[in-house]
Amino acid sequence: MELCRVGCYVELIQYISRSKENSVNNGQEPLVRLVDGQTRKVAADRAAVPSPVQHPSETRRFIAGIYNLSTPQRKRPEPMMKIESAEILLPSKGIAEDVEFWTSAALGLGFRMDTIYPADDPQVATLTGHGGLRMRLDKAAPITGPATVRLLCSDPDSEFQARELTSPSGTRVELVSAEAPMLRPPTEHAFIARRLKDNAPWIVGRAGMHYRDLIPGRLGGAIIASHIRIPDAGPVPDNVHYHTVGFQLIHCHAGWVRLVYEDQGEPFILRAGDSVIQPPQIRHRVLESSGGLQVIVEVGVPAEHLTTIDHVMTLPTPNYRPDREWDGQKFVHSRLEDAVWGPWRVPGFEARDTGVEDGTKGVAAVRVVRPATGVEQAELVTSHDSDILFTFVLSGSCTLHGEGQGSQTLSEGDAYTLPPGHKTCLTDCSADLSLLEVSLPGRFNTIVHPHDKLPV
Ligand SMILES: [Fe+2]
Repeated sequence: MELCRVGCYVELIQYISRSKENSVNNGQEPLVRLVDGQTRKVAADRAAVPSPVQHPSETRRFIAGIYNLSTPQRKRPEPMMKIESAEILLPSKGIAEDVEFWTSAALGLGFRMDTIYPADDPQVATLTGHGGLRMRLDKAAPITGPATVRLLCSDPDSEFQARELTSPSGTRVELVSAEAPMLRPPTEHAFIARRLKDNAPWIVGRAGMHYRDLIPGRLGGAIIASHIRIPDAGPVPDNVHYHTVGFQLIHCHAGWVRLVYEDQGEPFILRAGDSVIQPPQIRHRVLESSGGLQVIVEVGVPAEHLTTIDHVMTLPTPNYRPDREWDGQKFVHSRLEDAVWGPWRVPGFEARDTGVEDGTKGVAAVRVVRPATGVEQAELVTSHDSDILFTFVLSGSCTLHGEGQGSQTLSEGDAYTLPPGHKTCLTDCSADLSLLEVSLPGRFNTIVHPHDKLPV
């Protein structure tokens, strides 16, 4: 190993000599000869030798470390990198033409030039616009394929004649809507039963939460329903964010979670049995969850919707505005302790209304359903005309009979969707049966078929 170290040393000294032109080491015979004398052995051992560092200052530290040499150099603190700003690099075939493209009032792309050089034959120009996007147009930048700059417009159709432009140097410009479109696909109606024992996978999603899909296929993208677990108690690594969504329900099934919402006062605890409706784009944040297994049922319409982080707003906000509407919907907080029970749409059961139908102006309704006390179950066959009807079993058990679907026993954690016009019946309901039913729209008709036998 000693030989290896000598080899390293010589090789590195030689490197220093080369790097310092006309230095005292450069070309000095003893040093060069020593290299020559050991070259074969150094080469043979090279694989076992750490690669020499290829920077002169690091090389000196490397050598000093090997031989415990004291270095005459001053100890300087490692420089701290501080990023001051950022820019994208775009190749340019002609600075003047490109600057004209991006800055001209006639085209109206809204950029301004900040720097350009050299003045006599510009090779580089930097431009900024739209809240800080900085572009560096550089004639020396490698051309690796056309880059695309997306400009987010409030109304691109009215402001621009084309939805796509190309700069003189080939950069594509897309003019798109600043508002992310929320596409609500038509519902593909289906009878779907998802049981907990089917062992659908728990997927690690946003903010470390675990999601189990309750509606495979999601009715063609019309709805997503998730069974959510937060595995660790304590603070949740969430940001202030919002969802571009048509309807969204959070129901706490077990444990508790601390939440805060825009213009809805101080953070509060959502306890087991409580629900909230998150109106479209209301800013909110999950702050903390209880110990043990935390379970939430979340329903969103449509299935695929955008979640946006709000880096500016801090919660809670100073104003308390319980009557504020977002896209026509109010924030609704339904507490189990305030529950008022009344008849359900199917005789023999009772339901607790959560106020969602009023809060969403009929977009949806959410009810908690249980067998009516002291009433014998009639085992009535029913159907409905709701576009979406989703049910989650909160507790207890029952048997669901569906036309052409046979029957299946359901218990806590199971879920099902019933298509409109489909005849079904609930039997064998345990006394502690509790169902969470979500419908879109909020108001729909239930048809009782008193003379029908149990559908099979
Ligand atoms: Fe959220």
